[in-house]
Amino acid sequence: MKGYKVAIVGATGLVGQEFIKILEERSFPMLSICPLASDRSAGKKLFINHREVEVKETVSESFEGIDIALFSAGAETSRHFSPIAAQAGATVIDNSSAFRGHSDVPLIVPEVNPEDIKWHKGIIANPNCSTIQMVVALYPLHKVNLIKRIVVGTYQAVSGTGSAAIGELTTQAKQVLEGQSTIPHVYPHQIAFNVLPEIDVFLDNGYTKEEWKLVEETRKIMHADDIAISATCVRVPVFTGHSEAIHIEFSRPMSPDEARRILAQAPGVKLLDDPTISLYPQPWSAAGCDEVFVGRIRRDASHSNGLTMWVVSDNLRKGAALNAVQIAEEMTKRGWIHPGG
Ligand SMILES: NC(=O)c1ccc[n+]([C@@H]2O[C@H](COP(=O)([O-])OP(=O)(O)OC[C@H]3O[C@@H](n4cnc5c(N)ncnc54)[C@H](OP(=O)(O)O)[C@@H]3O)[C@@H](O)[C@H]2O)c1
Repeated sequence: MKGYKVAIVGATGLVGQEFIKILEERSFPMLSICPLASDRSAGKKLFINHREVEVKETVSESFEGIDIALFSAGAETSRHFSPIAAQAGATVIDNSSAFRGHSDVPLIVPEVNPEDIKWHKGIIANPNCSTIQMVVALYPLHKVNLIKRIVVGTYQAVSGTGSAAIGELTTQAKQVLEGQSTIPHVYPHQIAFNVLPEIDVFLDNGYTKEEWKLVEETRKIMHADDIAISATCVRVPVFTGHSEAIHIEFSRPMSPDEARRILAQAPGVKLLDDPTISLYPQPWSAAGCDEVFVGRIRRDASHSNGLTMWVVSDNLRKGAALNAVQIAEEMTKRGWIHPGG
């Protein structure tokens, strides 16, 4: 049987589990799959394609003979093991922030810049979840009418922080409903029944690192260094699905109908836009889906070249695992990667 030898680093995590589901669902051509994690999970059993597979500790030798290594185990693990995996001959697709800004590492969203995959040198970076859904929705519009400025506010689900955050929201929600006090561990404050305008660390310019990722990654993926972008990233008590209120300034006016026509044809996008029946994207219904959902498209009343929209997507799927698998699929489809080398 022809297929690829795939390793998943972080296979026991939220994104890792989604990797496995997506590879199965899309029948990715795999000769073997090797789930890797830290020593804490070594020996655990996972069911993959109806077979029990043992989780192994990630070590330098883990990548011998591997064709594709999908990483989702944090930036530190990626920084250490991705170059080792690439050196061993694997093509690394990395979900962490470790290499996204590196000039010799392509940052890929297959609907936007698949051609950039060609210049990889062993490591390909998967963008941040909030960036992916934004560029999937905006790039088709940008191609028709250049975007000059974006102002975006995000409403990001706790699953974006990993499995510990899901536990924290669940526990705190129960505690609040039972009248008990909460003690935050994952976040600096209570997340249940609250919103936190802090995702990742604060930078000297007053923005958070998450907000700055949206700026730099969007410019790199869209090859548009001069787009002005300002973001406010907010954690909300939602389990899965990031939402974004996006305000766009184009070079010339674009009507909501024109934007709807373009987005109706855009790859990876699904329009849900009918205010008369309260039809608009919601994280609750986007969770588990592959699309980037767009709605509430309207003229920006404050600018003649402006449009405003609401964009929602599953942060674990299109925001992480699905996008990475689509990168691998793009490479196999175009003959840019071959089993065994
Ligand atoms: N969640 C999202 O929406 C999202 C979106 C885009 C990107 N990402 C990125 O994906 C990565 C993982 O996120 P997650 O949400 O899946 O986190 P998670 O649920 O906390 O899982 C973390 C995974 O990393 C593994 N790990 C931790 N330290 C390790 C080490 N030293 N060596 C090998 N494996 C190690 C863990 O293994 P053990 O079971 O052994 O602890 C676990 O499998 C992060 O880099 C994150 O930034 C996440």
